[in-house]
Amino acid sequence: MDRPKVYVTRQIPEEGLALLRRVAEVEVNPVDAPVSRNELLKIVADCEGVIGLLTERIDAEFFDAAPKLKGYANYAVGFDNIDVPEATRRSMPVSNTPDVLTNATAECAWALLFAVARQVIPADRLMRSGEWPGWGPLQFIGGDVSGKTLGIVGAGRIGTAMARMSRGFNMPVLYTSSSNRRNEVLESELNARLVSFEELLEASDYISLHTPLNPGTKHLFGADAFVRMKPTACIINTGRGPVIDEQALLHALKTGEIAGAGLDVYENEPALTPGLAELENVVLLPHIGSGTASARADMAVLAARNLIAMLEGRKPETCLNPEIYD
Ligand code: DGY
Repeated sequence: MDRPKVYVTRQIPEEGLALLRRVAEVEVNPVDAPVSRNELLKIVADCEGVIGLLTERIDAEFFDAAPKLKGYANYAVGFDNIDVPEATRRSMPVSNTPDVLTNATAECAWALLFAVARQVIPADRLMRSGEWPGWGPLQFIGGDVSGKTLGIVGAGRIGTAMARMSRGFNMPVLYTSSSNRRNEVLESELNARLVSFEELLEASDYISLHTPLNPGTKHLFGADAFVRMKPTACIINTGRGPVIDEQALLHALKTGEIAGAGLDVYENEPALTPGLAELENVVLLPHIGSGTASARADMAVLAARNLIAMLEGRKPETCLNPEIYD
């Protein structure tokens, strides 16, 4: 019997590709750059399975271009790039990679938080310049972390992990929930409080964003939100860029409405809003939240296992539309 053809839109860790190769003919985009839309639509014409990234739009046009497709596996936990209702309408299984990157992404949020709080990047830059004059009492004065209030917007898996990591710093934790559902783990372990968005903005010293991107969360942080934040507060985003209106953020950072920002994700990736890179009170990472060796390898294995299940007509472990199997 012919082995199914599978396309992987970017080189991913070998652990996942090796699994796929046991059951399928695997073609991997040989270029270390996103595949163009036109090329993708051409390539998938004879594919039964595809593993893609958050840079690919998986929508009606994509499904139309892939008449033999049995399933699509996202190499990401976020799935705002997938039109899930459209996939469901076509009884097409789609999956993502939750859990395996939770700690890596939460740790990245902490890396940003500390880098912003203690001015790690400008201080490092001074050392490299060779112009450090020696110890000075007023150099690079930062903000405290211990005892400060942490606000979590989107207390799902990653938001919960980020909050739990605050235990060593004795931080009061506030969180919001779009469904108003209580997070038992945060409340029992950390005495965290579910509060309104407004209270979280006004009371937090550090706000960490973990909410998925959807029409309700796009530009959740705009001018109105920044004016409510403390002038000493910092915002951290390892979720999805468009949750922040970057023009409004630029204004808030420039005028001192807020003290700092640590960003791993951007409104129009890979472009950066002009002016952001010139500011000293912002730390900018190139969307590396899940970028640890083990998280990326585990994502590859999970995406591969999901796709193999779909090729074999089984429900994938982390299916985004399990109802199609009912
Ligand atoms: C995700 O998984 O959604 C990240 O943005 C990439 O790892």
